[in-house]
Amino acid sequence: MKRIALLTSGGDAPGMNAAIRAVVRTGVARGFEVFGIRNGFAGLIGGDLFRLGPRDVGGIIERGGTILGTSRCEDLKTAMGQSVALQRLQASAIDGLIVIGGNGSQRGSLVLSQRGIRVVGIASTIDNDLFGAEPSIGATTALDTALEAIDRLRVTASSHKRAFIVEVMGRNSGYLALMAGIAGGAEAIVLPEEPLEPEALAAEIRRSYERGKSHAIVVVAEGASYNAEGCARYFGEHAERLGFELRVTRLGHIQRGGAPGTFDRLIATRLGAAASEHLQTQGGGVLLGFMRGAVEATTLAEVAASAKVFDASLYRLARTLAE
Ligand code: F6P
Repeated sequence: MKRIALLTSGGDAPGMNAAIRAVVRTGVARGFEVFGIRNGFAGLIGGDLFRLGPRDVGGIIERGGTILGTSRCEDLKTAMGQSVALQRLQASAIDGLIVIGGNGSQRGSLVLSQRGIRVVGIASTIDNDLFGAEPSIGATTALDTALEAIDRLRVTASSHKRAFIVEVMGRNSGYLALMAGIAGGAEAIVLPEEPLEPEALAAEIRRSYERGKSHAIVVVAEGASYNAEGCARYFGEHAERLGFELRVTRLGHIQRGGAPGTFDRLIATRLGAAASEHLQTQGGGVLLGFMRGAVEATTLAEVAASAKVFDASLYRLARTLAE
């Protein structure tokens, strides 16, 4: 193998740049020519490849986002898009591809791998919903960002004796909401995995009020059946049920920005280094994720066919702690 290429795909995640830096520098140290691809699979289909050297990735380890740019690429789901992607890689004589991204991106990795390309995925998504990674790059920093916001909201909530509904990201996964809820001392947590009807949520908030709490923080996952919008609509009509006055905050993309924390920089670096090594020594067809304190490889096929198991005991713990 002589030439490898890398791209970032899907939602950006803090730590992607640290992974890019590690791939480039360890790849060059292994004797590869390394190429970056701009804007994810869309850039690959468009033929947007360029040479990357160690100096091109200086001063990026501390930066959020991705210097390569990213996209969600519908074209890669089509046979035509896949064929063009393969042609682009062949035309540039790329022997191996590294894809830094989450679930949708690694399904793209699997498709290209099934069509004969050596692909190594690196697990990176703030949602932490990717089988084979615990946690994926970006989740820890996103959690810290959500937590800082929750801590600030609790201060103003207590001053005004208010309840706050705080919506966090996570697509269909409640991981960020559950962890932010536990670490943020939330009075209630609403998850896709543990549906809570608004009447039951109202009762929980009311109980906090009646027990003399000065605030109630409710962390809702964006993927819950009643997210911030649903709750705001419901409580707009039933405000009297809460005791507290209510405010609603949607953290949104704020959770994706910001500098990666120590942990994300470290796992991104280790995963990036392992990816270039894996391509050289073992080929492709795997996702590399950080698990149980080490880099682990899971086949892309297994990743695509598997879902993470939700830990219901943590949800029960959060409810006990809210007393
Ligand atoms: O997958 C990461 C994520 O931030 C999800 O939590 C969220 O649902 C989605 O991306 C938002 O996507 P976009 O940036 O395309 O709006």
